[in-house]
Amino acid sequence: MQAELDYLPRTRVLYGAGKFRDLGRLAKELGFHRSLLVADQGVRAAGYVDAAVRQLEAEGIHVYPFHGFDANPDTKMVDEGRAFARPHHVDSIVGLGGGSSMDCAKGINFVLTNGGNMKGYWGWGKATKPMLPMIGVPTTAGTGSEAQTYALISDAETHVKMACGDPQAAFRIALLDPELCLTAPAAVKATAGYDALSHAVETWVTTKRNPISLSFAMQAWRLMESSFERVVTAADDLEAMGKMLLGSHLAGMAIENSMLGATHACANPLTARYGTTHGTAIALLLAHVVRWNAAAVHGSYRELHSSLPERLEELALAAGLPRRLRDAGVEESDFAQLSEAASHQWTGRFNPRPLDAAGAREVYECAW
Ligand SMILES: [Fe+2]
Repeated sequence: MQAELDYLPRTRVLYGAGKFRDLGRLAKELGFHRSLLVADQGVRAAGYVDAAVRQLEAEGIHVYPFHGFDANPDTKMVDEGRAFARPHHVDSIVGLGGGSSMDCAKGINFVLTNGGNMKGYWGWGKATKPMLPMIGVPTTAGTGSEAQTYALISDAETHVKMACGDPQAAFRIALLDPELCLTAPAAVKATAGYDALSHAVETWVTTKRNPISLSFAMQAWRLMESSFERVVTAADDLEAMGKMLLGSHLAGMAIENSMLGATHACANPLTARYGTTHGTAIALLLAHVVRWNAAAVHGSYRELHSSLPERLEELALAAGLPRRLRDAGVEESDFAQLSEAASHQWTGRFNPRPLDAAGAREVYECAW
């Protein structure tokens, strides 16, 4: 029986080298007058914030840049963003940077327009008042958050990652320019890129998969599997970077239509417990989850690659990512606690092989 689906494209996608220079024109087209610019420190240092401000101001748009967040935006940072934005009476938001900028932009949009705190939006469709129009400009090929209606925001107290989604949290425009991604540090390209690869692999087999998500996942995999090694070894390969960026966006569209699986369920507790970078945690686990799932997916992985776990290990090796949990500071004595936390992750519910604490423990032991 075919799984149900509900597909409504909400985001205009523009892709191409140099497209960033269209930002001002596009913002004006959408009627932006006073824009909050949510941009991480990395893109500020790269000079992209100044470039964005210049372009927007050239179209008569007032710009208020906010940088008060880090790689894992939490409820406190989102609240600070709201406090910063409120007196400026902004009518629009531009998210510029890695996945954290996209998530933070969405998070601020929720609480600024609808009030309360982020926890109140945990789940789906809880914004009752109109949200602000947004443009997303990713500068890493990674989360594909610019393709999604969910903001991933951590609870500042418990470190639990909350997925807060609403149709209104979709970016009106995703502006994909591979030139912006070339300057990211090699380590960021490696972790963000591997995360994007995992999105294609996980969405390929979830219980919610459907012909639409599978189309995105397959094309995302093809684009990224053929370019990831170039991106992490040749800093100036614009063509490879473009494939990764477009692939990561398509993988984000696949997530939007099919959710994720056990790799993300087991990775999130590592980030919460040890502060492990998301992409690093994913790289430690993905090949093991593929092996653990294999019996449940009836050969589907073979359509991606004839020996997928080995290929995934090869890609992690090429990117210099750690291979074993023991090399990444994970304590074996924490397995019980980590497994329990993994079994409660929402994303694990869509894994093709049902994931409970015992299953998560098997994954951690294989990756140890
Ligand atoms: Fe991810």
